Amino acid sequence: MQKSDRKPKFLKDYAPPDYLIEEVALDVALAPKAARVASKLRIRPNPKVATGGKPLVLDGEDLTLESLTLDGKALSPGDYEVKDGSLTIKRVPARPFTLEAFTTCDPEANTELSGLYLSRGTYCTQCEPEGFRRITYFLDRPDVLAVYTVRIEAERDAAPVLLSNGNPVARGDIPGTNRHFATWHDPFPKPSYLFALVGGNLAAVPDEFVTASGRKVALTIYVEPGKQDRCAWAMESLKRSMRWDEERFGREYDLDVFNIVAVSDFNMGAMENKGLNIFNDKLVLARPDTASDGDYVSIESVIAHEYFHNWTGDRVTCRDWFQLCLKEGLTVFRDQEFTGDTRSGAVERIGAVRILKSNQFPEDAGPLAHPVRPPSFIEINNFYTATVYEKGAEVCRMLQTLLGREGFRKGLDLYFERHDGEAVTVEDFVDAMADVSGRDLKQFMRWYTQAGTPELACSLDYDAHAKTARLTVSQIIPPTPGQAKKEPMLIPLKVGLIGANGDELPLTLADGTPLVDGLLEVTEREQVFEFRDIPAPPTPSLLRNFSAPVRLSTNLDPGQIEFLMAHDSDPFNRWQAAQTYATNLLTDGARDGGNIERVTGKEAARLAQALAVTSRDSSLLTAYRAEFLKLPGEADIARELSRNVDTDAVHGAREALRKKIGEEIRETLTELYEANADSGPYSPDPESAGRRAVRNAALDLLVATGDTSEIARAERHYRDATNMTDSIAALAILSHVQAPVRDKALDHFYARWQDEPLVLDKWFAVQARAASSSSVETVRTLLSHPKFSLKNPNRVRAVIGSFIHGNPTAFNRPDGAGYRLLAEQAIEIDGFNPHMAARLLGAFESWRILEPIRQARAKSVLQDLAARTLSTDSYEIVTKTLGEG
Ligand code: PHE
Ligand code: ZN
Repeated sequence: MQKSDRKPKFLKDYAPPDYLIEEVALDVALAPKAARVASKLRIRPNPKVATGGKPLVLDGEDLTLESLTLDGKALSPGDYEVKDGSLTIKRVPARPFTLEAFTTCDPEANTELSGLYLSRGTYCTQCEPEGFRRITYFLDRPDVLAVYTVRIEAERDAAPVLLSNGNPVARGDIPGTNRHFATWHDPFPKPSYLFALVGGNLAAVPDEFVTASGRKVALTIYVEPGKQDRCAWAMESLKRSMRWDEERFGREYDLDVFNIVAVSDFNMGAMENKGLNIFNDKLVLARPDTASDGDYVSIESVIAHEYFHNWTGDRVTCRDWFQLCLKEGLTVFRDQEFTGDTRSGAVERIGAVRILKSNQFPEDAGPLAHPVRPPSFIEINNFYTATVYEKGAEVCRMLQTLLGREGFRKGLDLYFERHDGEAVTVEDFVDAMADVSGRDLKQFMRWYTQAGTPELACSLDYDAHAKTARLTVSQIIPPTPGQAKKEPMLIPLKVGLIGANGDELPLTLADGTPLVDGLLEVTEREQVFEFRDIPAPPTPSLLRNFSAPVRLSTNLDPGQIEFLMAHDSDPFNRWQAAQTYATNLLTDGARDGGNIERVTGKEAARLAQALAVTSRDSSLLTAYRAEFLKLPGEADIARELSRNVDTDAVHGAREALRKKIGEEIRETLTELYEANADSGPYSPDPESAGRRAVRNAALDLLVATGDTSEIARAERHYRDATNMTDSIAALAILSHVQAPVRDKALDHFYARWQDEPLVLDKWFAVQARAASSSSVETVRTLLSHPKFSLKNPNRVRAVIGSFIHGNPTAFNRPDGAGYRLLAEQAIEIDGFNPHMAARLLGAFESWRILEPIRQARAKSVLQDLAARTLSTDSYEIVTKTLGEG
């Protein structure tokens, strides 16, 4: 592997390219061991740079160069140099010229899944961020935008389907051979990372979409033959996304065709290549018996995400990879808004905040913390992070909160108008928002440059004599690697004051201005907001709808939190109140080795009763009610403890609280279980899915009582399941039970689904997640299962990913066996797929919050890793995690 070196690259060193490539003609002959690529590049000196005879340096990796011509004249080896991932042509003309290169690459040997590779016999590509250089020599950077024409040829039988970006222009047989070809042309200039090509024996599922302006677009989803009956949901989701982007953001699709290809081997979720999205098949294929409600939701949101990139990413792209959040944060924000509009805003918000807190907060609090726009990186592949994606989305959401929906829409319109066809920066985006609103957003820019989750402390004091309520707010931004001191941020803080009878009180600031939407802007390290005409002591509802990605602390007492659980008119905060109440109990219960009385006492009973009231309240959406029955996860509790964490105590406390709740409100749970039974055929609609979610959450708590009749209920639930949602929920519940029914159900599931890879992944995952003293051994057994393979990323995530992220008590086993297992597997994977290995190693990011024994174990495993020869990807993660990088 020729790989870039280990020196960090810096945003401040950005320089525009010396040369531009404006037109690309590729001719690709597909073959497993030596795919032949003829490229013809129209190159010119960059007029914005005084190039003056500088050498032309193209990127290229794992390529075999066969020949090179410049303006039709063959270059001889003395004219150029190939070394360290680049091709340098020493002398080129000071005017536009044509460079033709003929190279080969080896798709079959491509185990990194970057560049051109084979997935179960299908040729496919992945070019973001730096994979195009593994297909041909190029200026492989996002600020070089070119118009591509691509001719692909292959054996007719092996690859009847040949696809690339843009519109199809020609296809035909190559007379006298068993080969055929197809030519594609993409009229929109694009960076190389959006290039894609597919060749294979795939089945097409066609449909059509008519845009708002009346243009017909042919839509096709390509899947492995035999899987056509699992595409309907993805197709529906695509059409709804296209319509929504027109209605909400005025964005229409721009080509004659839109193609989606599902492949089995993919490092990430999916990729937004122009007009040719390539997907991990997990995020396309769904049928009621093979996919759960959760899968349906993920498919809908990722289909939307990739489609929305057509404008936020493709039409307007990033100048350099430091600006990654420009496309990713904004596109995640857009897909969240889509899901909120299509389903329930509150449920979507709860889900998004859950993900933010469980994935991004630990990142922001640990050794890998970086700003939404990182100032440097060693390997860009390591920066597809929760901070760039999820916190990046929160930053866009805060802009929408500050400017209002309409203001934000205007800002986005201006951004597209100014920058269509360009590669731009975060400043360009924020400038558009500032210009439409007339606001100075300088302080807001700190959200892009300062890492760390701000801690917002709020306390409310009531003055009975003056009838005023004073809210004191202070913000602290903790130090992060490389950033010891921080400046105060502009934090949108949505608040409400609730009267004793549960009514919202009108908010009037001390100077008499009404605060209609309850939106305060915190800009100082410490600030006081005074509300007048408050007749009696109110209960404050703070950070409504999670208006900023901060950690909130308040001076509310348990009684007030209980009050909010029942009365807050902000649905997000009502849910948050229940979570906070539970989290306070659980952190107390898990502190210093564990205090089980804390989670089995009076307050736990009060929590249970409050949950019973809300989950029975039929005036609320079913899916929303289900959220109340899901307790904070073990990682959430550990994160809130933030130091000296004993993962077994965390597990113990949570299990005890689950049991307590199950016992306390058993009747309600039984009622919910029975009242929400499915009748009729499966439908993925939010109401039906909500009923299943309530029912499965109730079952989970009932089984937590340990009562044998409840275990029997779970067994029946498994047996009677008519869809994957119920079937996998029952299996997950049974997987935690130490009884013969567990193995019986697992064996049954295996026998039924052993030949369906995506379903079999669930079987692997459920077992890797089941907490027990022998989990590590169980995972070892799974790793040597004949159906396990380290080469398939989905299977790796199902076993290793589920173990390290879904089984904290086992991963953090005090003897270090969990850490050693991860290290061993990561080392092996690092040898052929560094990107994947580095991602797994990210699981060490929170090692410093653990109690001393576990910390020492983790440290020694990390030190052992650091002493080895690792890929650049893994090297960066390991050294930064250790804090020695
Ligand atoms: N850009 C892809 C997305 O939509 C993610 C991705 C990154 C996929 C890198 C592959 C490689 O988020
Ligand atoms: Zn994306």
